[in-house]
Amino acid sequence: MPEATKPTETPLVVAESLVKRYGELAAVDGISFSIAPGEVVGFLGPNGAGKTTTIRMLSCNSPRTGGRLEVFGLDVALHPREIKGQLGVVPQDNNYDPDLSVIENLLLYARYFGIPARTARQRATELLEFVHLTDKAGEQVDELSGGMKRRLILARGLINTPRLLVLDEPTTGLDPQARRLIWERLRELRQRGVTIIITTHYMDEAEQICDRLLIMDNGKVIATGSPQSLISEHAGDEARNRPRGRRGRRSRNRAGRMPFPEARGQVRDIRIRLPGRARAHPQAGAADVVQRAAGNA
Ligand SMILES: Nc1ncnc2c1ncn2[C@@H]1O[C@H](COP(=O)(O)OP(=O)(O)OP(=O)(O)O)[C@@H](O)[C@H]1O
Ligand SMILES: [Mg+2]
Repeated sequence: MPEATKPTETPLVVAESLVKRYGELAAVDGISFSIAPGEVVGFLGPNGAGKTTTIRMLSCNSPRTGGRLEVFGLDVALHPREIKGQLGVVPQDNNYDPDLSVIENLLLYARYFGIPARTARQRATELLEFVHLTDKAGEQVDELSGGMKRRLILARGLINTPRLLVLDEPTTGLDPQARRLIWERLRELRQRGVTIIITTHYMDEAEQICDRLLIMDNGKVIATGSPQSLISEHAGDEARNRPRGRRGRRSRNRAGRMPFPEARGQVRDIRIRLPGRARAHPQAGAADVVQRAAGNA
């Protein structure tokens, strides 16, 4: 292949000294990063680190307070329509329309993008197949399980065949089987060349999907690197060598004893989240985040 036709190195996302303030709080405190086409980049960090705030700014859903932020080479403040047209978003909270069926939710979303009805129906049908929800097409969304709802929101995020897919904690609270199904779909999208940004609390998820991680805490990026290099650097041999699945099985058993379905899958979540935000030394924060995400703390 001649050099000129190689995938361009022009980044899809560029953030420079990006800031988001809520009053006195710098929720995002001067972060800089760029994301190349085809990359799968994860934001990992404890509660309140600033992951969702970052995602919301680059999805044109929350205006920045300072710095530079470009998506597809366009300033998010000046070109939100053009950017949103090529962006797929899976927000942290499932925000479907409970009065509509599964397929109607997809068709409604397609209308926001101005996708013609016939194309929309064809895409919606294909996407339901992609996320294994074909047999649920006519059901009310409220009647789906948590994992199925998440898959529906993933399908919805793909209705406009986006160049960039942004997912905010796509598998939090799901059981291991539901998580694996979503990982599989994401890996397939990655193979098709879709650029993916994902936030997660789980190092196993990051390892499965991400080429590169940005570790956030207190609104700052405190470490970057491949999941493997960050584990080697910050989590030590125990986390790296732990047999896969051991932790998952234990979590499932504990969660399985919970009497309420909504509690299922939350045990892991609680265990790896950090209780506090303030940390005296940023590098201690990076090790802390990595170790906990890897289940080593
Ligand atoms: N609309 C808002 N108004 C005021 N403060 C906010 C708002 N949204 C977020 N924050 C604050 O900004 C900080 C970063 O929040 P953010 O939701 O980005 O964290 P996060 O990394 O996504 O956390 P989690 O893992 O819990 O989802 C938190 O201190 C949060 O309380
Ligand atoms: Mg969040």
